[in-house]
Amino acid sequence: MKPDVTAFFDEATNTVSYVVRDPSGSACAIIDSVLDFDNAAARTDTSSADKIIEFVRSNGLSTEWILESHVHADHLSAAPYLQEKLGGKIGIGANITTVQETFGKVFNEGTEFQRDGSQFDKLFEDGDSFHIGQMRGDVLHTPGHTPACLTYVIGDAAFVGDTLFMPDFGTARCDFPGGSSETLYNSIQKILALPDETRIFVGHDYKAQGRDHYAWETTVGEQKELNIHIGHGRKLEDFRKLRDDRDATLGMPRLILPSIQVNMRAGNMPEPEPNGDIMLKLPLNKL
Ligand SMILES: [Fe+2]
Repeated sequence: MKPDVTAFFDEATNTVSYVVRDPSGSACAIIDSVLDFDNAAARTDTSSADKIIEFVRSNGLSTEWILESHVHADHLSAAPYLQEKLGGKIGIGANITTVQETFGKVFNEGTEFQRDGSQFDKLFEDGDSFHIGQMRGDVLHTPGHTPACLTYVIGDAAFVGDTLFMPDFGTARCDFPGGSSETLYNSIQKILALPDETRIFVGHDYKAQGRDHYAWETTVGEQKELNIHIGHGRKLEDFRKLRDDRDATLGMPRLILPSIQVNMRAGNMPEPEPNGDIMLKLPLNKL
């Protein structure tokens, strides 16, 4: 089964969102949507999500799933907005509860912030399957970047979120709370065990040295051969050193504090203040 995949690239956050369609019908899933956010003004905007809505409607598609590969730290999710406009169930990995525990503390959330994943419609475990129309999707738990990262394998296409990037860019950072380069290495081996011809769709692209255009589609075979961090059968110890050394040089993503506060709530904003305004927190010296 070869799903039809349409990518939507958000240059402001280097994020790729996908609409995945059952070629034998009108059912689709939306993976890793973006709610635009002007950080300086703390202003949200739905331009990116509206492009997806326009695409779904103009092609007569019915949205069955709105999937998150993980709790993103670099962009806000538009899942609730898409759900309101298009329907569909919002899904994420069951280990979201670990992320909610960790960041519930960071943001000093009260008991009104549930740490049980109940903000989402579906919590996927490793090995779960689901359907988009007649098309089956399989869930691989691929932690390492975060504890809740999933890879969605739908027909011949794998949506790997932030585990692997394009072969010339490498892999995701592992220095967020609950991240681990050793865990990421083992997760990537699960992805590389898929057939070589499996199409891989990555969650971000930043171009790469010597490449002046954005790209987001590759294959398992190409990753095995060419990935600059993990290709050529790189051993665990070598990968760990390379990854950990590189992570030690990286600053925090520009939108990490607003993103996590919103995304750990399935893309919903915190409860408004008594005057009706919504506030996000900036915990000092925590990250
Ligand atoms: Fe991420």
